[in-house]
Amino acid sequence: MRAITLNSEIDLDGWKAASRALRASGIPPAEVRFVTGEAVQTTLFGSDDEASEAGEVAALVVPRAFVETAADLILHRAPDRFDLMYRLLWRLRDEPDLMRVASDPDVAAAAERVKNVHRAAHKMKAFVRFRETTDEAGERWVAWFEPAHRVLEKTAPFFARRFSTMRWSILTPDGAAHWDGGRLSFGPPARQDEAPQEDEVEDFWRTYYASTFNPARLRTRMMQSEMPKRYWKNLPEASLIPELVASAGLRTEGMVSRAAPQPNEKFVRLRAPTVDRTATDDMVPVNLPALASGVEGCRRCPLWRDATQAVCGQGPAGARLMIVGEQPGDQEDLAGRPFIGPAGRVLSDALNAAGIDRAESYLTNAVKHFKHEPRGKRRLHKTPNAGEVQACRWWLDHERKLVKPRLILALGATAGLAVLGRKPAVQVERGKVIETPDGDRVLLTVHPSYLLRLPDPELRRREQAAFAADLQLARIETR
Ligand code: URA
Repeated sequence: MRAITLNSEIDLDGWKAASRALRASGIPPAEVRFVTGEAVQTTLFGSDDEASEAGEVAALVVPRAFVETAADLILHRAPDRFDLMYRLLWRLRDEPDLMRVASDPDVAAAAERVKNVHRAAHKMKAFVRFRETTDEAGERWVAWFEPAHRVLEKTAPFFARRFSTMRWSILTPDGAAHWDGGRLSFGPPARQDEAPQEDEVEDFWRTYYASTFNPARLRTRMMQSEMPKRYWKNLPEASLIPELVASAGLRTEGMVSRAAPQPNEKFVRLRAPTVDRTATDDMVPVNLPALASGVEGCRRCPLWRDATQAVCGQGPAGARLMIVGEQPGDQEDLAGRPFIGPAGRVLSDALNAAGIDRAESYLTNAVKHFKHEPRGKRRLHKTPNAGEVQACRWWLDHERKLVKPRLILALGATAGLAVLGRKPAVQVERGKVIETPDGDRVLLTVHPSYLLRLPDPELRRREQAAFAADLQLARIETR
């Protein structure tokens, strides 16, 4: 058994160099164990001669899916993740399509862990709470956070984009990230008592949370899955949860649409416009995860201000079918995933009936933020205008380049505008494949929410049948 010592828990370069050398020397996974730190002796090779050969090992060619998986998998806290990564790498030599075999136990274990890492990154973005301090250079915002996995380095660029005009630090048990207004740097693990404990912004968070808490929509289990208890201890607003839950019934009765308190000055500043550094031509996303994190920080148009979050496309890179909708709706905006609300259910049923696997398709929207206007407690959908569609086309165009689908199914006029670059006459142009000047193939059809809105049952039946026929054609054209 060879023990390979890596420099840190997320030492991807060290893992790559060691694994490359191990694989080139024909050392199977069963004979290797990766550890971190200095306590264990590094014995990559049995002798100095073998060790010197390691430096000459050429770079390996591996599928992009593996590279992307490894980059996230290493952030998982499971101690055997390095071994799993090496097992996958080893097997790829004889099974080049291994990463596509979702039922394979190693691939499935890796996918599950990558999902956990993504979730931990998502939670970190949602639950970091900065507290104000001052140092010799002036105002500085400091947060303490305990991520479920080692996602500090992964998420720090998000905070740098979001809070680009502030000086801040995020302290965690794994390390610390510091932003000085222009440069991101990382430091050693921190302790909670190094972060400020309470400040007046806390009261603001509590007021804000209490005012956005809607007792009529209380679903305790869902709330706990979105805001898991492990994060509560560092969230000022979490102290309110037990009481808010207990009094939800009473409050529902007494609730009249009371105006939310004005956001205080600090919060307004936190949300002040920032220059979008993710969506410029010199920051072209090189893969879908990079695109998703760019979309998250997008400021190309003002829609981000009123949306809960951006909703990026979802689905495998290399999907044969790309489905483009208009924009996320109320439920998509809250969950951060496309097509999960009523229109999404109509779409899923129709895809099923047409024999198209939704999970194998790439679903996205022309516009990535929810445009709406408040009406009492509801948020009413508003159609994005041509300027907003044009601003967001930057992302859609990159999604098209990265996914390279055989066919793009555009749902409705807004999707048609985004995909074709001109406003189409949907009912006239639907149902046939349109070639774009750059060689993409587009099939135009109606938006599923149009089917939901049709009051006349006979017309609805006819339109549903036409929609089904369009999807049949999509299936044939993506074969
Ligand atoms: N409608 C859309 O166009 N997209 C969604 O994601 C949801 C509803």
